[in-house]
Amino acid sequence: MLKIESITKLQQHVRHLRRASKVIGFVPTMGAIHEGHCSLMRAGRAECDELIASIFVNPTQFCPGEDYAKYPRPLERDLAACEAEGVDTVFCPDADEMYPAGSATTVSVSGLTDGLCGAYRPGHFDGVTTIVAKLFNIVQPDIAYFGQKDAQQAAVIRRMVRDLIWPIKIVICPTIREPDGLAISSRNAYLTPEQRKQALSLYAALEYARRQIQAGRLKVADLTAEMRQRIEAAGPCSIDYIEIIDAHELIPKNTVQGRCLIALAVRIGKSRLIDNIEVDAGTSKS
Ligand code: PAF
Repeated sequence: MLKIESITKLQQHVRHLRRASKVIGFVPTMGAIHEGHCSLMRAGRAECDELIASIFVNPTQFCPGEDYAKYPRPLERDLAACEAEGVDTVFCPDADEMYPAGSATTVSVSGLTDGLCGAYRPGHFDGVTTIVAKLFNIVQPDIAYFGQKDAQQAAVIRRMVRDLIWPIKIVICPTIREPDGLAISSRNAYLTPEQRKQALSLYAALEYARRQIQAGRLKVADLTAEMRQRIEAAGPCSIDYIEIIDAHELIPKNTVQGRCLIALAVRIGKSRLIDNIEVDAGTSKS
């Protein structure tokens, strides 16, 4: 496995690959590689000639007061995980390489970034789209892989790629969960054993809503209020949002209809946890 830190060297490598007509797959990460990232790498390994992963803790997507300084950076373990998944090349630049002094350009997707996490993490998605745009320009992937767990990020990146007419296929892979249902995230590491148990209430609430919708209960306000009750009953937490929205446009709804995303963000202890599931309620109305 190649480890490349400089943009120029990666660009040279990519030039060779493109000349040889290799299909380039790309998995961008902030490191702290877990089973969720591994599933993206496996998907990429299965369909691409060259699999490139990046490890870069992107400062611009952390808001003031968030965990940028404390974000885990187990580089040697991460490199071993990439190698075990058959990654060909890992790109791990430093912050000065990606944001040279005087950087003044931001890539911003409007609308889709207003609600959900965008409302609670101002500037976060501008940071994500700016770094992903830079990485796409360097790596020039044919296919890039993202997780459904970050459903809003996935929708925003799809829109950016469509709007900027990049010839990149975006593949969204299913959320990977622990056997008890907790969505795998690097932020689970901040949970105490008790908080870890409490956090199961998030997936349980999502599944509760799914069952209610399938049973024909379609009033969003009732469903989200019941989800809130269940999560609050599990222990001390602060709920940023619980929403049922259109899965493509991320627009809030009063009545569940068509393909919906049930999404939530809840702070438990030092962790801000997000999770979501999609449900197809067909075209019926309550
Ligand atoms: O999902 C992530 O880990 C990050 O937001 C990404 C896409 C690697 C950009 O820094």
